[in-house]
Amino acid sequence: MESAAADTRTTLPPLHRLPVSPARPPHPTTLPDGTPAWLVTRYHDVRQVLGDPRITRADLHDVGTAGATADVAANPASLFNQDGPAHRRLRGTVQRAFTPRAIAGWQPWVAAAVQQSVDALVAAGPPADLVAAFARPVPFAVTTRLMGLDGDGPDSLDEARLHRWTLALLAQGEEAAAGEPTGGPAAGEAAGGQAIGRQAAEPAAEQAADHAEALAEYAAFTAELIARRRREPGDDLVSRLVRAADQDGGIPEESLVHLVAGLTASGNESVAGALGNALVYLLGERADHWPRLADPDTAERTAERLLHFIPLGDDEATIRRATAAIELGGATIPADAVVAISLGSANRDPEVYPDGLDADLGLPLAAPTLAFSAGPHYCIGAWRVRLEMRESLQRLATALPGLRLTSPVADLAWQLGGTTRSPARIPVTW
Ligand code: HEM
Repeated sequence: MESAAADTRTTLPPLHRLPVSPARPPHPTTLPDGTPAWLVTRYHDVRQVLGDPRITRADLHDVGTAGATADVAANPASLFNQDGPAHRRLRGTVQRAFTPRAIAGWQPWVAAAVQQSVDALVAAGPPADLVAAFARPVPFAVTTRLMGLDGDGPDSLDEARLHRWTLALLAQGEEAAAGEPTGGPAAGEAAGGQAIGRQAAEPAAEQAADHAEALAEYAAFTAELIARRRREPGDDLVSRLVRAADQDGGIPEESLVHLVAGLTASGNESVAGALGNALVYLLGERADHWPRLADPDTAERTAERLLHFIPLGDDEATIRRATAAIELGGATIPADAVVAISLGSANRDPEVYPDGLDADLGLPLAAPTLAFSAGPHYCIGAWRVRLEMRESLQRLATALPGLRLTSPVADLAWQLGGTTRSPARIPVTW
């Protein structure tokens, strides 16, 4: 596809085998960019921090001028980087567009989009690449339909263009850290905005310039899209967001552009990644479980377990800042400290989840997952991820109970993004 998609490596472990910091009481640490921080890893400590209004994101602007800590706060217009009343207002507007009734109405066509990709895969016959033939087309079909970008005319969006914009968006943080030019809409929201990379790819100047150009194009496309939906609203999510924002008032246009761009690009990429990474684990290590996924309840519980245990990327934690001294888990986090929250560690805390990833995938989780965070920044797209994952696993396993990998997981190439990592190809047969 696009040249940036060739940014793949084969030597990385699959994400489900990535080590996480062990669950321990809060303790001082140093982030990869050199920023001193407090690391929070235990499930109950993490829940407490995520719900504490004294631990905020907006104040990260004051921390440092370089590296991941600064990058993550680099887009103050994004939902992810706001707190308090400004955040509640923007979030309230978004939630008015994502009503339970609207979501219920979307479910049948999400299921139909999944089935269409399954049917196309089966009709084309083996062998196949599950990334190109399934893990990417499913979220792309859902994203474009949801945002009203699946028709003809100026709003129509093809996969290659969205992919180019997405790669530029996801690389943005790293390029800002490397002092390269950036611009355009913010990334981070849909991928969880997790900021501490275990691997930081140093982008070439040429690639950074290409990304800057792509981001400028994407910002212009999104601004024009919003203007058109304001003039001629439909029933799509962009029209709903514009309507809600205009009715509520006080939402800066820049925030709206960031939001629509993030929901489209990062939303699409995160589901594609989650699906690809889940398929790698299931087909690579749980072939016995695969045919059981034809049962809808098993598929639903498996989807939840995989979203819980398999991270979306290599990032270790999401960061905040303490605006006051905080008593947490027997420690005192001082006022002004940067707080690094490891959702991955919390989700593997043996006190809460003694059975881990390798247990029966049909069992319910012992406690609500933190994969989508908790508290005021709880992931707005969680319903969509769960729905697409469940439908995808159930329909694919029903149609192809004998699906299997044709090359070992250790040989897979990975597509790297700023906050996500996913298999570049999943070669299969049946
Ligand atoms: C497997 C896929 C996904 C995962 C694991 C994920 C995870 C997360 C996490 C952990 C956060 C909060 C980060 C924090 O508290 O610091 C978050 C926020 C967010 N997510 Fe997701 N996400 C996923 C997909 C999506 C999708 C598909 C969408 C949109 C359609 C979406 C939209 C958002 C938005 C808008 C926020 C910011 C909310 C706020 O700051 O108030 N996410 N996500």
